[in-house]
Amino acid sequence: MSPELLRVQDLTVEYRGDRRHSSVTALDGVSLAISPGQTLGMVGESGSGKTTLALAILGLVRPTAGQIMFAGHDLTAAGRRARRRLGRDLQVVFQDPYSSLNPARTVSQILSEPLDVHKTLSRQQVRQRIAEMLEQVRLPADSAGQYPAEFSGGQRQRIAIARALMVSPRLVICDEPVSALDLSVQAQILNLLADIQRSLSVSFLLISHDLAVIRYLSTQVVVLYRGQVMESGPTEEICARPSHPYTRALLAAMPSPDPDLAQRNISREPGSAPPSSNEYTPGRSRGAETRHGPNQADGACGCPYSPRCPISVERCRTERPALRAVGTSAHAACHLLPDPLPWSNPGRLAAP
Ligand SMILES: Nc1ncnc2c1ncn2[C@@H]1O[C@H](COP(=O)(O)OP(=O)(O)OP(=O)(O)O)[C@@H](O)[C@H]1O
Ligand SMILES: [Mg+2]
Repeated sequence: MSPELLRVQDLTVEYRGDRRHSSVTALDGVSLAISPGQTLGMVGESGSGKTTLALAILGLVRPTAGQIMFAGHDLTAAGRRARRRLGRDLQVVFQDPYSSLNPARTVSQILSEPLDVHKTLSRQQVRQRIAEMLEQVRLPADSAGQYPAEFSGGQRQRIAIARALMVSPRLVICDEPVSALDLSVQAQILNLLADIQRSLSVSFLLISHDLAVIRYLSTQVVVLYRGQVMESGPTEEICARPSHPYTRALLAAMPSPDPDLAQRNISREPGSAPPSSNEYTPGRSRGAETRHGPNQADGACGCPYSPRCPISVERCRTERPALRAVGTSAHAACHLLPDPLPWSNPGRLAAP
């Protein structure tokens, strides 16, 4: 059996338009893999297809082409029953903890929702499980009887995380789990996710537009631009030696670490591991924002980044570059590799 928990192979998702709107290719031949207990980060600016990938894995949008293998099963070919059974191992935490929790249900009811589907535990066991999960996300035991409106944004995201963990999933997809939260709370939630992964060995697919968030939690990263993988590989290697001009632009857009800000805003959870060298500094790097949509004609046949790339040549506009090995185990899709590139001035690459 494959050691990979999730393998997405050449995945393409097209949203079909109606008569007035043309179709949108949200994902175009995306491949990635996640091992058990690993966190894979997916980074890309707005509209790059991150949520579409999450929805395709969850079976909420139908791929146009490609395959999604999860725990040795082909999700793209799975029927309703098989998907429901596999769905237990596959949970999600969405960006907005205000809309993702039903305001009319108590925390206890919200946390038991995933168990309702599978009905394998007695009432007493469900109560026990709820208490364990509240402790896991460091919420007081009496939260169970309260309603979402009684909690702050960060506390609500803890409830959403607890709900995802109720059925002991093997993979949790976190789609922008901190971008709706105050800066000071972002670090607390990221620290919580790191602690959960250490104690439960669960895999995460962490989706964010912010490379600083990805870098804090993920050992591997996939850089997505307009539905295509620009670069992928070990996070530290890619952050230290980015090969693709778009990755360079994302790095250039990251806020530089500000120790004073970090001191003020980050309070590490009691008992959590000491900060690593890549300590998360709260700050909103929105990446290099763009107005280009995925179905924009410019660069449609070639590299999707070519209209913004400061070093593009004619070939970039006419021929799509394949992912090629760079460095020790990273891959990048750029025609101009491994030729020397003018990397000495990343600021130059940040401008669209
Ligand atoms: N239901 C839909 N119908 C048509 N187009 C869609 C639909 N959902 C998303 N799209 C388009 O697909 C592309 C990818 O969208 P997606 O939401 O996956 O991006 P994203 O990376 O998650 O963006 P964000 O960071 O803003 O959440 C965008 O151009 C979006 O407009
Ligand atoms: Mg999204």
